[in-house]
Amino acid sequence: YGTSRINALSHLEIGGVDTVDLAQKYGTPLFVYDVALMRKRARAFKETFDKNQVKAQVAYASKAFSTIAMINLAEEEGLSLDVVSAGELYTALAANFPVERIHFHGNNKSVEEITMGIEAGIGCFVADNFYELQILQQIAKEKGTIVSVLLRISPGVEAHTHDYISTGQIDSKFGFDLKSGQVEKAIEITRNSENLELLGVHSHIGSQIFETTGFLMAVDTIFEAIEKWSNELSYVPKVLNLGGGFGIRYTEEDNPIPPENYVVEIIDKVKSHVKHLQIEMPEIWIEPGRSIVGDAGTTLYSIGSNKEIPDVRKYVAVDGGMGDNLRPALYQAKYEAILANRANDIAEEKVSIAGKCCESGDMLIWDLPLPKANPGDILAVFCTGAYGYSMANNYNRIPRPAVVFVENGDAQLVVKRESYEDIIHLDIPLKSKLKLS
Ligand code: LLP
Repeated sequence: YGTSRINALSHLEIGGVDTVDLAQKYGTPLFVYDVALMRKRARAFKETFDKNQVKAQVAYASKAFSTIAMINLAEEEGLSLDVVSAGELYTALAANFPVERIHFHGNNKSVEEITMGIEAGIGCFVADNFYELQILQQIAKEKGTIVSVLLRISPGVEAHTHDYISTGQIDSKFGFDLKSGQVEKAIEITRNSENLELLGVHSHIGSQIFETTGFLMAVDTIFEAIEKWSNELSYVPKVLNLGGGFGIRYTEEDNPIPPENYVVEIIDKVKSHVKHLQIEMPEIWIEPGRSIVGDAGTTLYSIGSNKEIPDVRKYVAVDGGMGDNLRPALYQAKYEAILANRANDIAEEKVSIAGKCCESGDMLIWDLPLPKANPGDILAVFCTGAYGYSMANNYNRIPRPAVVFVENGDAQLVVKRESYEDIIHLDIPLKSKLKLS
């Protein structure tokens, strides 16, 4: 992946930095991000739009990995930013991200969150439901301002991915239902409001998608609706946001197409509809998260105990697990890994990588071919850059790992390792202890 290679010491090297040195210096578990690879991914999206002369915004879906340094990088690469909560917005503001390029998502934004977004002057809200439109209108009016809005549509397209990360189908908690006239009603409400400006529509069909079919179906469905809106409401959206969801390769089983190919096909499809309807070409916005950061992230763990059950299985345990990577437990997600300190050694056995949480489901990888691993060896798990750190938690009060960015031989700590003080810093001791006599 990216700038990863095996160096003369038979160590895994990323961004010109020896990962064994990183593990020693910063401790494990450790997230290591290949900055050059993230830049490459971001640029590929942007350049595809430029080459096709389509006005576009590529909004990095910060839920995939939201930290100040990552947001700084998104800014450097000229990306826009998708946030879904006050916490993500706060992070973006703390990173001084240009507010006009921030898009606020979410199916249940609170009054506080909407107020925070409006006060910050963010680029737009992706409105999800009628209640939100009402609050947006009300707060915008109170503040005497005009708020730009995209309407999130649920296009009725089912993406072939895990149920939990599929969002475009009719029976979904997200967006205005396209089939029942809700979208038309939302268009009317927004256009009739003095404090809302309708920029266009949004659709996101799911995540970790390997085919373009779903996106193209969503575009077809939306343009069917646009034809109707154009005739009946004289409304044509200026912006078409098609969300994220471009799949990446976690293991050999995954066969994604290059992310920019999705964009090319989407552009062609949109252009053909625009030509047919003889309307102005809308701006196309996309929201890639995983496809920008996913394969750029590697987690380094130290190997500890093991347990061999004769004729059944060998467990090899690492010093992290579902606390820093919830995806295997939540989605049965699969990963590949190697020994970073003996990267040239041949795999001799199949082992199952166990996390350290008090839970049988805390297994990171089943049946991984690996050289005979010893305590102290460093395991590098690949493709952990998306929804790893961002879904990290403190189950069993295990501190979250540190995060390091590597590029051109330099390593920069971008998130400190949590300390035990951090773990208890919100706790308040019980006031009066029960006195048992
Ligand atoms: N836009 C919207 C409206 C979304 O809901 C999402 C992801 C994205 C963009 C970015 O999708 P991406 O390009 O990263 O696939 N935790 C799950 C993924 C949940 C995705 C939620 N929404 C996982 O670990 O696979």
